Amino acid sequence: MQHILIIDGPNLNLTGTREKQIYGAREQESPDSMEKKFLDRGYQVKISRFQSNHEGDIVDALHRAAAQGITGIVINPGAFTHTSISIADALRACGIPAVEVHLSHIYAREEFRRHNLTAPACSGSISGLGIEGYHLAVEYLMLQHS
Ligand code: DQA
Repeated sequence: MQHILIIDGPNLNLTGTREKQIYGAREQESPDSMEKKFLDRGYQVKISRFQSNHEGDIVDALHRAAAQGITGIVINPGAFTHTSISIADALRACGIPAVEVHLSHIYAREEFRRHNLTAPACSGSISGLGIEGYHLAVEYLMLQHS
C-alpha cells in the first residue's frame, strides 16, 4: 500500500481562518478523512501529515521520509517556496516522487510569488485549486504506482 506524506509549511496551520479571500474558508482536511474518501473510491492509501513553521524541521521531515516507508510526498512549502534552497535540495536528496501544491494561484499574485525554488525539485505543481489540489496531487502519486 502506498504511504503519502503531506508536508505543509509556515502559516498553513491557519488555513480556513487566514486571508480567506485568498486561501479559502475551508480548513485543511485530516489525513483520516482523505483516506476515507479514497477508500470510498476503491483506492487504499495511508496518508500522514506534517506541518511546521520552521524550515529545518521540514528538511528533517524529508530526510526521515524514506526510512518511514513514504512512497510519495505532497508538499506546500508556503513562503519557503520562494526562498528555500535547503528544502529544494532535501526534496531532491530524498529520492521520493513529490508534487507541490499551492492553495492560491501563485502565478496570478504578486511578482515575488512567481519565483519558485521548490517546484523544479518536484514532478509537478498544482496552484490555485484550493484544498482540492491536495487530493489531486495524492491521486496523481497513486496513479504512478498502480
Ligand atoms: C501558498 C502560497 C505562498 O506564496 C504563501 O506564502 C503561502 C501559501 C499557497 O498555498 O497558496 O503561505 O503556498
